[in-house]
Amino acid sequence: MSATAIIEIIDLKKIYGTGDVQVAALDGVSLKINQGEFVAIMGPSGSGKSTLMNILACLDRPTEGSYILDGEDVSNLSRVQLAHIRNRKLGFVFQSYNLLPRLDAAENVMLPIIYQRDPPVPVGERRDKALAALDVVGLANRAHHLPKALSGGQQQRVAIARALINDPVLILADEPTGNLDSRSSYEIMALLHGLHERGRTIVMVTHEPDIAQYTGRIISIRDGKLETDKQNGKLGEELRQKLRLAIQESAGTES
Ligand SMILES: Nc1ncnc2c1ncn2[C@@H]1O[C@H](COP(=O)(O)OP(=O)(O)O)[C@@H](O)[C@H]1O
Ligand SMILES: [Mg+2]
Repeated sequence: MSATAIIEIIDLKKIYGTGDVQVAALDGVSLKINQGEFVAIMGPSGSGKSTLMNILACLDRPTEGSYILDGEDVSNLSRVQLAHIRNRKLGFVFQSYNLLPRLDAAENVMLPIIYQRDPPVPVGERRDKALAALDVVGLANRAHHLPKALSGGQQQRVAIARALINDPVLILADEPTGNLDSRSSYEIMALLHGLHERGRTIVMVTHEPDIAQYTGRIISIRDGKLETDKQNGKLGEELRQKLRLAIQESAGTES
């Protein structure tokens, strides 16, 4: 049985600018990511990580090459069609959480399904779904809290619940631990690892090797080209143990 590809990109190029000031932000990247993988994308500043994530997120289109998402070629879709795919298939986690400050945790989690059209989620079901997603991230008891009443790590967990609510085929996370202290970072990695163990497909950008080691596969890019692509030899249980230790140790060193 061959694994199902969620992401397949073939000779992807993204060229910015015109004439002799062209920049190849992506310069022929080919990559396959299967269902259930937990992948870290690394690379120095300017290497093309954000450009790649924007294309994977259906926020931008490649100049050349193809992007097949969950079996569907999305390389040449219109902006409206891409927005539709984004809503149906993708969940997003950002470095700065991007929660709306006047909405409580449950209302923030509900946002993606409020705009969902196919099929629409009945008003009466939205809150139940949001509470279920908050439960997955361990925050069911914080449903009525505004973001400012939550720690950074808790806010990021709310954002992860929001990413889960429409049952996406792919979760894309851009530096999800970038704003967090080390203990909260490891806790977020433990949460993502748990989602991965339950079958979620997750692709995250990070510039921290210490964080990337808790994923299943590390891809590095440089100058718009794929540089290395390594499977993490460690098994799920080993990583879980290691994360538990990291959380304990970082708790001990912080005041
Ligand atoms: N909108 C844009 N217009 C022109 N050049 C861009 C644009 N976005 C990114 N670039 C260039 O493309 C390259 C890759 O950028 P980016 O994908 O943001 O890298 P990273 O996220 O790894 O720091 C850089 O040289 C950057 O200056
Ligand atoms: Mg970037």
